[in-house]
Amino acid sequence: MLRAKITATGSYAPERSLTNYEIEKIINTSDAWITERTGIKERRIAGESQTTSELAYYASIKALAECNLEPDEIDLIIVATVSGDMPFPATACILQKLLDAKNAVAFDINAACSGFIYAMSIANSFIQTGTYKKVLLVGVEVLSKFLDWSDRSTCILFGDGAGAAILEPTNSENGILSTHIYSDGNLWEFIHLPGGGSKNPTSNHTIENKLHYIKMRGNETFKVAVKTLENLVLDTLKFNNLDPAELSLLIPHQANLRIILATAKRLGISMDKVFVNVDKYGNTSAASIPIALDEAVRAGRIKKDDYILLEAFGAGLTWASSLIKW
Ligand code: UT7
Repeated sequence: MLRAKITATGSYAPERSLTNYEIEKIINTSDAWITERTGIKERRIAGESQTTSELAYYASIKALAECNLEPDEIDLIIVATVSGDMPFPATACILQKLLDAKNAVAFDINAACSGFIYAMSIANSFIQTGTYKKVLLVGVEVLSKFLDWSDRSTCILFGDGAGAAILEPTNSENGILSTHIYSDGNLWEFIHLPGGGSKNPTSNHTIENKLHYIKMRGNETFKVAVKTLENLVLDTLKFNNLDPAELSLLIPHQANLRIILATAKRLGISMDKVFVNVDKYGNTSAASIPIALDEAVRAGRIKKDDYILLEAFGAGLTWASSLIKW
């Protein structure tokens, strides 16, 4: 059976790190509160002139170099982002130009924090049907430019970064075993950016009322996330006839350490089987999973034949998971 396999990964985070102590000087918060409630210590912030496609480019060239692929060998580029260079064209098309990937088709998908796994799911189907053979997936965000730095319930959480992966077909048993994607539009208001679209076109009114910034009902989102992810990880293992003990590494979306701890507890696995880097990057939405995956690979945390579970939850609301045999 033909399946997709991740043959390379890459990631990039802007140089500038913003610590909790620095945020203490901007708004009424504290390192102690942020650390205790989220596990975040610092996050990366893109430079004033840095764009989403630029971050995506740096992550992509690392992944391409890793598997000795030339950009013109890529036949599909999918970029998962909610903070693209501009509403259109797709950031994936701008990335295509930066890479000079002239033989690819390129498009974006908007599934927020679940975006990278959504993209994996789409790529997996294209590979299984033989439509495309060499796929570049990127999860990337420059959320810092959409944050209200006077709203302490959101500005402490998010960060910028990019992660990339190359997917190719394989006949072996190792590769993506399953992907699972879900959404519930009834809860779209939990996390959204109201301004700049057809509902609230940019105007003095939208700017004065800060509609160009991310709005989040954090505590309600938190509760739905914990409940949903607990079922998601168990269902994903069950689908693959696997016991939690057979899992080598859980790579969760890095939104909040308390959500990650709750999921690990539900699985009954110890934290040494869970990849955590939320302390360094905060919540980078669609970039969170591919950055974590790349760091886990480079740190030697993933070996051949390991079972890896990816899971994410975010705006939409959306949630998604994937089980991989490495
Ligand atoms: O990636 C997409 C999915 N997103 C998520 O998964 C985010 C999920 N939500 C969260 O991570 C958490 O809800 C937050 C970290 C955003 C907030 O933590 P919480 O424990 O849910 O706090 P809360 O919103 O219930 O607020 C508790 C208190 C409030 O004060 P009062 O009303 O009890 O006096 C807030 O005003 O904490 C206050 N607060 C803060 N205090 C200091 C909220 N933000 C801050 C802050 N510093 N930055």
